[in-house]
Amino acid sequence: MAVQEKRIILKHIDQPGYTTDIDCYLRHGGYEVLKKTLTQKPEDLCAEVLKSGVRGRGGAGFPCGLKWKFLDRKSGKPIYLVCNADESEPGTFKDRQIIHKDPHQLIEGMMVSCFAIQAKAAYIYIRGEFPEGAKILEKAIEEARAHNMVGENVLGTGYSCDIFVHRGAGAYICGEETGLIESLEGKRAYPRIKPPYFPAVLGLYQCPTAVNNVETLCHIKHAIDMGGEEYAKIGTPGNTGTRIICVSGHVQKPGYYEFECGALTMGQLIHEVCGGLRPGRKLKAIIPGGSSAKVLRADERYKGKTKDGKEFDWGIEDIPMDFDSLAAAGSMSGSGGVVVMDDSTDMLEVLANINAFYAHESCGQCTPCREGSLWMKKITTRMSEGQARREDVDLLKSVADQIAGRTICAFGEACAWPTQSFALKFRDEFLEKADRQAEDREESGVRSRGSQEVGT
Ligand SMILES: Cc1cc2nc3c(=O)[nH]c(=O)nc-3n(C[C@H](O)[C@H](O)[C@H](O)COP(=O)(O)O)c2cc1C
Ligand code: SF4
Repeated sequence: MAVQEKRIILKHIDQPGYTTDIDCYLRHGGYEVLKKTLTQKPEDLCAEVLKSGVRGRGGAGFPCGLKWKFLDRKSGKPIYLVCNADESEPGTFKDRQIIHKDPHQLIEGMMVSCFAIQAKAAYIYIRGEFPEGAKILEKAIEEARAHNMVGENVLGTGYSCDIFVHRGAGAYICGEETGLIESLEGKRAYPRIKPPYFPAVLGLYQCPTAVNNVETLCHIKHAIDMGGEEYAKIGTPGNTGTRIICVSGHVQKPGYYEFECGALTMGQLIHEVCGGLRPGRKLKAIIPGGSSAKVLRADERYKGKTKDGKEFDWGIEDIPMDFDSLAAAGSMSGSGGVVVMDDSTDMLEVLANINAFYAHESCGQCTPCREGSLWMKKITTRMSEGQARREDVDLLKSVADQIAGRTICAFGEACAWPTQSFALKFRDEFLEKADRQAEDREESGVRSRGSQEVGT
């Protein structure tokens, strides 16, 4: 049987007649989970989230319940919840669908989470390039306040918590949680050093802060509604729930889809869900989790042991779409953005494009990242402009190796991984290109010398 979507987060999205109005949301059972939540003990709710195994959908896949457990409750300082709606990872376009088409689901997920962690206030940090999304959220929060779902004395329970929308000015680094917090405090989004600045301890205004992705917060609503154990039955152990996957590139039906974690393979995603590749084309490579995820080559075998000790030997199309399997294959599910490339793709052009992005987006605090990202961009730009040399491939790798693991924030890895993986996996293609370009240069040199000699 063909693989089926399992829509939990996207359940109502794109349904005819479903709107962003609170009345529509209420007609579809909206805010019932919040009502139920407010009658329970916050610590029990946190325990359910831990049991559910929900992992963060923003990039790192960290278990949400564990993150909340680290919140410093002993300090006596107010606790904050921050919703990361920056969605700046190239290839990712899921959070904006939730914001644009079902904003109340996010607001309910946030209020449920706020009550569970006993947050004093919550913020939605939305990417600068999403002005429409910010307006939709403002309107939805206003409606929720009018219905007493947000604000003072929520539904007469004595619990008060407001939600505020904060617009970024448009920088990728504002999606990194500590950079985001700096920006929320009105400063330049320079990421903070961890330790000591773990948001759960020293976050917003130096107070304990939970930073969670838009999709994660929606999952929390459903995990609490179902109960941790029931939720954990969806997906596979350690990879629970569903996942929204955004597919772009050379497939017939790009778009966003929601599946049970691990319920389908990469091959099923491409052929059954996305209608296959373009006619007459073959698969060349896939970036499985946003532009910073390491590239996977189509003709490679992926061998090793899974987390639970099972040996695997996969072709690219056999890789199960879940956190642990993609990590075992040497990449990551990251932000859920899958970029499919067929055999018409020039991998050097792709890398040059990615490197131009990262060089532009480095915040500049750390020398390896600031200088290294710029050098990687300069080298791949020069190579793509016909001036490639054989030694560039090793040079690229050496620059990238000197960034990863030597920086304040994970942007260092995010910008190094594409270069490291492309230079390793498409080494032959890059070398061939360098040889061809050298021949062309030689030939055009001969030709121009020749033309000078005949005086034309
Ligand atoms: C350079 C960089 C950019 C990031 N951008 C985003 C982003 O746009 N959205 C997001 O949710 N997380 C982003 N993250 C991850 C956040 O730092 C953080 O881990 C996440 O918001 C936590 O939420 P989660 O646990 O619900 O996934 C980024 C991380 C890095 C290093
Ligand atoms: S790694 Fe890059 S983006 Fe992160 S703090 Fe350092 S310079 Fe800034």
